[in-house]
Amino acid sequence: MIKSSRRDWILRSIFFGTPLACFGYGSLIEKHLIDVTRADIPLKPEFGSLDGLKIALMSDFHHDDFGDNAFIARAVQTVNDEQVDLVMLAGDYISDDRAALEPLFNELRHLRPGIGTFAVLGNHDRWHLHNSLFALSEDAGVRLLINEAVEYDNFIISGIDSCWGGRPNLEVTLKPTHPDKPVITGWHEPDTFDTYNDPRIILQMSGHTHGGQVCAPAIGPILLPQYGRKYPYGHYQQGDGSLFVTRGIGTMTIPTRFLCAPELAILTLKA
Ligand SMILES: [Fe+2]
Repeated sequence: MIKSSRRDWILRSIFFGTPLACFGYGSLIEKHLIDVTRADIPLKPEFGSLDGLKIALMSDFHHDDFGDNAFIARAVQTVNDEQVDLVMLAGDYISDDRAALEPLFNELRHLRPGIGTFAVLGNHDRWHLHNSLFALSEDAGVRLLINEAVEYDNFIISGIDSCWGGRPNLEVTLKPTHPDKPVITGWHEPDTFDTYNDPRIILQMSGHTHGGQVCAPAIGPILLPQYGRKYPYGHYQQGDGSLFVTRGIGTMTIPTRFLCAPELAILTLKA
C-alpha cells in the first residue's frame, strides 16, 4: 500500500514536474540565448558578382511580449560584429501593442550594415498597423518595403507584403525592375515560397514560424502557424532558388522557448 502510493507520487511528480522544469528552463535560460546560425546560399554562375554578399536575417521580435531591450541591443551588436552588407528584418515587430515599437527601433537604429537595413511587414504588423511604424523605421534608417524593390548595380532587394494580413503582389513589385538582375526578397510567411516561379529570385528570407518556439526531442515543432507549416525552419532549395526561414528572436503566446533558441541568421551568397 505504502509502496503503491509512493510510486504514484513519483509518477505524478514526473508527469507534472517535467513540463514545469522545461518551461522554467525555457523562460529563464533558453529564451535569453542568441544562437548565431551561418549558412551559405549557392549562386548560379551568372550571378557570381554577388559572391560573398553577407546578409543578417532577424525576425519575429514580438517586442510587446518579449520586451527585452538589452537582448535586442546584444543582437544588434552581434550583427555589427559580423560586418554584414545587408540586414533584412522579416516582420512581426509586435504582437498587438504598438507602444513596443519605439523601444525596439531605438535599438535597431544602431544596426550598421555596409549597404542598408530593409524590412517587411508580418501578419501581426498588418493586423495592428499604425503610422508610427513608418515613422519609427524611417527614423531608425530602416527601409520598409511593402511590395517595393530597390535596385543596385548587380542585384535587386525587394520586400513583399504579408500574405496573411496584407496584399502581397510579387509580380507588380518586380515588374519595373531590370529583368536580368538577381533578386533577394523578404517575405514574412515562408510557405509563400511555393507561389512563384521566377528564376531571378535567388533568395527568399522569412520568419513567422519561430521554428515552432517549443520543440519536442526527436519530434521537432509542436505547433506551427498557418502559412508556416511546410517550411518551418532552415534552408530549403528549389531549382536555383533558396528559402531561409529563421527561428526569429521573440516569443509569443507563451513566454518560453524550448529546444528552439532565439536566432540570428548570417547568410553568405556563394558562387
Ligand atoms: Fe507571423
